[in-house]
Amino acid sequence: GRNVVSLDDLSVNEIRALLRKAAYIDTHRTQVAHTCDGRVLATLFYEPSTRTRLSFETAMLRLGGKTIGFAGAQLASVTKGESIADTVKTVSCYADIIAIRHPKEGAALIASEAAAPYDVPVINAGDGGHMHPTQTLADLLTIQSRFGRLDDVTIGLCGDLTFGRTVHSLIETLCRFGHVRFVLISPEELVTPRYVLDRIDASPTCSYVEVRDLTEVIGDLDVLYMTRVQKERFFNEDDYLRLRDTYILDAAKLALAKPSMAVLHPLPRVNEIAVDVDADPRAAYFEQVRNGMLMRMALESSVLGDTLPGYEPAVGKEI
Ligand code: CP
Repeated sequence: GRNVVSLDDLSVNEIRALLRKAAYIDTHRTQVAHTCDGRVLATLFYEPSTRTRLSFETAMLRLGGKTIGFAGAQLASVTKGESIADTVKTVSCYADIIAIRHPKEGAALIASEAAAPYDVPVINAGDGGHMHPTQTLADLLTIQSRFGRLDDVTIGLCGDLTFGRTVHSLIETLCRFGHVRFVLISPEELVTPRYVLDRIDASPTCSYVEVRDLTEVIGDLDVLYMTRVQKERFFNEDDYLRLRDTYILDAAKLALAKPSMAVLHPLPRVNEIAVDVDADPRAAYFEQVRNGMLMRMALESSVLGDTLPGYEPAVGKEI
């Protein structure tokens, strides 16, 4: 199976192909409605989710396939002590493709190794504070739709850059697309991990600065990617309570930004974006939700090798 544990599992051309396919799917909903007829998607969600699980499932349903799975580990045999590997080997007998979310970093990699003998692709739907590759696909489509490009942009990432897995996946991937300037806005306690900064350092075309104050830099940004402080990853509740409201984007702060800036957020939000921002044309986070479903439709059909009727691949490799 073709696994997506990280977007490093896909080439830049393959990611570009997924973006093209998502745009095609958006305008050819009827034509693609039987692309995955007879396929079964399993969603193994050991952590809460609204968007990721429901969009993985909706994507498969809209392509003609079916879904099985569990939402919340308390409903699965992990409560009896079953390992991830045994669960995945079992589900590989039932499903053609697996999406897994788990609180532990590396869980999706373990799952992909367990599913390999069954030739069932495993997609990482979020592993702890590590990676969230399909969220990044949604983010890329949103940035590309707004700006027509994925390079020559200044992107501010704001909030919990330590535990925010969406931030790690997005930085890792944008570093492969060209000139990107990252403005990393976080409290001292929630800075970007070294392994992510190393990716920027290794890129000949990308750069970063680390700052504490959003107001100081907001006027320079093309994209502002807000994040929730990840309560579930904190060891100490007092630290969470102290840090959770460090950055709140409201209409007054947004007034300092460029008219063309796009505000992204993987959602769910808590307090970090005031609802008075939602009506501003720069708010792109509900567009992102919709793009997430389209990209998961593109990804699911692609990793299963199911051809979208009428879709003409671009020159170059497409999965
Ligand atoms: N963006 C995201 O992963 O949302 P959920 O946790 O609701 O799936």
